[in-house]
Amino acid sequence: MRYGYFDKKEREYVITRPDTPTPWINYIGMGKYGGIVSNTGGGYSFDRDPQNRRITRYRYNNIPMDRPGRYIYIRDAADGEYWNPGWQPVQGKLDSYCCRHGLGYTVLQGENKGVASEVTYFVPDDKNFEIWLVKLKNLTGAPRRLQVFSYAEFCFWDAIKDQQNIDWCQQINQCKYEDKIIVYYPHEFEQSMEGAFVASGEEVASYDASLEAFIGKYRSESNPIAVELGACSNSTSYRMNGVGAFCVNVELQQNEEREMVFILGSAQDRSKIREEIREYLRPEFARESLRRLKEYWSSYLDKLYVETPDEDMNLFVNLWNQYQCKVTFNWSRFVSLYQTGLGRGMGFRDSAQDIMGVMHSIPDEAKGLITNILKCQYTDGRAYHLYFPLTGSGGEGDAPIKKFDWYSDDHLWIIMSVDDYIKETGDFDFLDMEVPYNDKQTVGTVWEHMCRAIEFTGANLGPNKLALAGRADWNDTLNLDMGNGVAESVFTSMLYCNVLNTMIELCSYLGRDEDSIKYTHMFSDMKEAINSSCWDGEWYKRAFDDMGMPLGSETCEYGKIYINSQSWAVLGKVATEEYAKKCLEAVEKYLNSEYGIATVYPAYRQFDKSKGGITTYPPGTKENGGIFLHTNPWVMIANIMIGNGDRAFKYYKQILPAARNDAAELLEVEPYVYPQNILGREHPQFGTGRNSWLSGTAAWNMLASSRYILGIRQGYDCLTVDPCIPSEWEGFKAKRVFRGAVYNIEVKNPDRVSKGVRKLVVDGSETDKIPVFGKGTTHSVTVIMG
Ligand code: GLC
Repeated sequence: MRYGYFDKKEREYVITRPDTPTPWINYIGMGKYGGIVSNTGGGYSFDRDPQNRRITRYRYNNIPMDRPGRYIYIRDAADGEYWNPGWQPVQGKLDSYCCRHGLGYTVLQGENKGVASEVTYFVPDDKNFEIWLVKLKNLTGAPRRLQVFSYAEFCFWDAIKDQQNIDWCQQINQCKYEDKIIVYYPHEFEQSMEGAFVASGEEVASYDASLEAFIGKYRSESNPIAVELGACSNSTSYRMNGVGAFCVNVELQQNEEREMVFILGSAQDRSKIREEIREYLRPEFARESLRRLKEYWSSYLDKLYVETPDEDMNLFVNLWNQYQCKVTFNWSRFVSLYQTGLGRGMGFRDSAQDIMGVMHSIPDEAKGLITNILKCQYTDGRAYHLYFPLTGSGGEGDAPIKKFDWYSDDHLWIIMSVDDYIKETGDFDFLDMEVPYNDKQTVGTVWEHMCRAIEFTGANLGPNKLALAGRADWNDTLNLDMGNGVAESVFTSMLYCNVLNTMIELCSYLGRDEDSIKYTHMFSDMKEAINSSCWDGEWYKRAFDDMGMPLGSETCEYGKIYINSQSWAVLGKVATEEYAKKCLEAVEKYLNSEYGIATVYPAYRQFDKSKGGITTYPPGTKENGGIFLHTNPWVMIANIMIGNGDRAFKYYKQILPAARNDAAELLEVEPYVYPQNILGREHPQFGTGRNSWLSGTAAWNMLASSRYILGIRQGYDCLTVDPCIPSEWEGFKAKRVFRGAVYNIEVKNPDRVSKGVRKLVVDGSETDKIPVFGKGTTHSVTVIMG
């Protein structure tokens, strides 16, 4: 069954029935003030940090699900019937319903009793507030008297205290009305001038600032007493729970249309609210700011555009995948409907990877985030596992600590993102920029941060000369440390090889010969250690536990083969040609399925404390044999590195959400973004997606598709086009903006090969390199494969 379709022209996903299997959400805002909006208006808002500056409340695990949200109620004053344009929370009958999720905005449209209604939610001009632009049209031949109610339920700004310390939160906050603005004061008597607010651009007939007064103590958002009665009670909330509810009376003549604005926001200085929002309360001004928002997104997307024979791929590479990359760049794994914004913060390794997904579009912002996460590095090279953007505090999370309190991989990823930034921009000076370590006392250049990251892993090797496992590696649930301090991670060892290769490439380019020699030795030593202790006959082992026993070996009863030590053997240039082919073949044979490649097979069936968290999941779930999508593009890239373009494309297509749009009842999650995981073959609900939006899947699929399948990669002093495509393709076209110049690329594949460039022509002349051109210039690149 399908719940909606892609509107390519408008760059929207259009949902045509409200009762989607999970809330299908969108994000508003640019990464500071913003929030989540579902297809029925559910969701919540926050300012910069969803834990420390929550604006509105959300009831996780609620049934009915997806409540509350940003609601508009429409009431027919003639008979008292009321409904919402987005169906929830009243769930009344609508003659038509549709939700349009666009880039940074969502439109809900619902028609009932001859009244067309529409509400558009977005954050204008990266401000500290969001606009709800409401449009009503009387479709009938007679005048209509309507009442419009707006509803936003405030949350105490510390969203954890809001759940934990209810008496304190309820006694300390107040919520009051003054001249078309309702202000929520989390701390009445503090010096702080902060607060949250809602404002109405229309004359207010009545209002409620008390949630209990607006809804009624034994009612719900589905049938608020104020809406039922057709008027709010002009309540003030001196304690308990605040709400921003206005009632506006509207009279519409036949065919008349009216627009009005409500604003929900966060104020750092409450005395300035009125001035800051004044213009935006006018519908024309609000519409203009929506236009500016659309322009921003056009320019964000404009850096890469492809025309391949595969429409789903075009849709994702040009639009939805790029969009999801920006959202993961903004929020890491902090806040979605699955990551509640209540504790995880921004992930160090997560952001380091997310950065690469937006590099081609917003390298300056990428540089900003790289700098922020470098500040989370300890002087010895390892890093915080997560950090909170507003306070700058960080830590390792709440996993039990046995011997080590660090994750073995976190710090290594940053080398990849720094190198990516330099290749995109040519800004080698960045390497000399000084950035403090997390103790804030010691400072090192970016280059030193990278070197220390390498050195930390190099100094923490186990009995097989592999990287010690620490608390976990990329796989958070492989917790092998039992206190002996000898568990080793093959994955981290391979990642270390990968970033050593990056360091070697960078050193060679910069003429840092001594460093280059040093890193080449470190790489060869590790490569040898891996090949001598980890080749299992058909694939690479995954780890050694704290008793020195292997995981991911034929000798294991469960967890015989893991995905990551196969893909990274190739990505880390550890595997010989023969081993690379064999281990990727084993991935196809034991791990692949029609919905994606599983993390491990066979999945664990019972808790085993020597392996940790992975064995707490039912078989086929998440890291324990689920299809953890983040890992799939690594297998695509590995296949491309050995020239297997057909297989890489098969893997790309089998997890592409757009390709499952017509069977959404099984996938359950949004078909316009990648989820984090899909239940694997060993699970009774095989094929169902979970945890949509915030996943490294976004950035890595962006890389796998644009840089590896299509082969358009940035270099220190050139652009490379080295495709590895399905052999049946005739070719493809692409536009890439690189260092300010436009490259119009045409790839022709007359011999129907997967890989190999026979001829390269730039601006009409045959050459072997695509140079960096001046800003503002346009160039043509023709690639003949063969
Ligand atoms: C989650 C975490 C990520 C981790 C992955 C696998 O996506 O955010 O950091 O690598 O799970 O455990």
